[in-house]
Amino acid sequence: MTYLDHAATTPLRASAREAWLAAAAELGNPSSLHAAGRRARAIVEDARERIAAALGADAPEVILTSGGTEADNLAVKGLHWGRCAEDPARRRLVVSAVEHHAVIDAARWLHARGDADLVEIAVDAAGVIDLDALDTALDHETSLVSVMWANNEVGTVQPLTDVVALADAHGVPVHADAVQAVPYLEVSFRRAGLSAMTVSAHKVGGPVGVGALVARRGLPLESLAHGGGQQRSVRSGTLDAPGAAAFAAALDAAVAERSAERARLEALRSRLVAGIRTAVPEATVTGPRDPALRLPGIVHCVIPGARAESVLFLLDAAGIAASSGSACTAGVVQSSHVAMAMGWSAEDAACTLRLSMGRTTAEADLDAVLAALPDAVARARAASGAR
Ligand SMILES: Cc1ncc(COP(=O)(O)O)c(C=O)c1O
Repeated sequence: MTYLDHAATTPLRASAREAWLAAAAELGNPSSLHAAGRRARAIVEDARERIAAALGADAPEVILTSGGTEADNLAVKGLHWGRCAEDPARRRLVVSAVEHHAVIDAARWLHARGDADLVEIAVDAAGVIDLDALDTALDHETSLVSVMWANNEVGTVQPLTDVVALADAHGVPVHADAVQAVPYLEVSFRRAGLSAMTVSAHKVGGPVGVGALVARRGLPLESLAHGGGQQRSVRSGTLDAPGAAAFAAALDAAVAERSAERARLEALRSRLVAGIRTAVPEATVTGPRDPALRLPGIVHCVIPGARAESVLFLLDAAGIAASSGSACTAGVVQSSHVAMAMGWSAEDAACTLRLSMGRTTAEADLDAVLAALPDAVARARAASGAR
């Protein structure tokens, strides 16, 4: 199989699997006081230290979660509610229009139930947020700004330094979803000046169902899960020692190979983009042209008339796993809110293709997709009546 869907999930690393198995062989609830519990607790705390070190944070700032989705929800709802509890005038929640659904849907949910006034910051054609619009949305009534470090559909990297500087001027905390950034960019929570940051294990070769919210101490963060009071009562629930150990192992490996992988994928990306332009001239490759402003492993295009579900089905039949980059309901790809925010029509935004590369991607994978793509696109366009 040609696997070009690393942004969705990337293969589990052997080191992560081994760390998981070793920790899973230990008996004991990490919150129990006996020796077995203390051993399990030591595994969790060692993992927390390593995750913190890899992310430029302090261990107590790392709140382990069931993944990126939970961490995003905790950040958006927990911080918004916490800031409103401190001052009910702070009702304005500010997010970019291209956030992952875990952020944007959480924000829209808060708005729909009357808990927040929501401002979605527009982006330009390359997916970069409008800093002037952000500045306008910031004042003493703003609860939180959530702007992702790098986008999962098109790979655009946001100007977070500017976002943090603008928010700091009004004392507003910034949350960044760094799920896609961590594998390829120098991510330091401390240096970025963020208040909160989301990470997920399965994007760096760890297991699915493990992640973390890195959150500065002293933030007003309301809990979403009440229970045993674990993790400073912010996130109750029995600690997942094997998951934490595997996440730490995967993250260590990802950080160690990050800059070499970035250069390698950037070269593959150039080849893939050139190949797409020749093989499918009607495709528009989206996102910033400057490599410094995008992730190296994502190639996202809009192919008018070629509906994503048809192209993906035909590529799958040719042994190629790819994605549209956006959500899918009952086998039909929804128009991507990211592509629409970048100025594409709803129709074109349902005709997206995301090829995402990772550490197992080789030249042969590019050859395979470039060979299969023209026919898949032609057939998809014929099926939809496009010429
Ligand atoms: C940018 C981004 N945020 C959040 C998530 C959700 O993470 P998880 O799958 O760990 O819930 C993803 C996963 O696709 C993502 O790409």
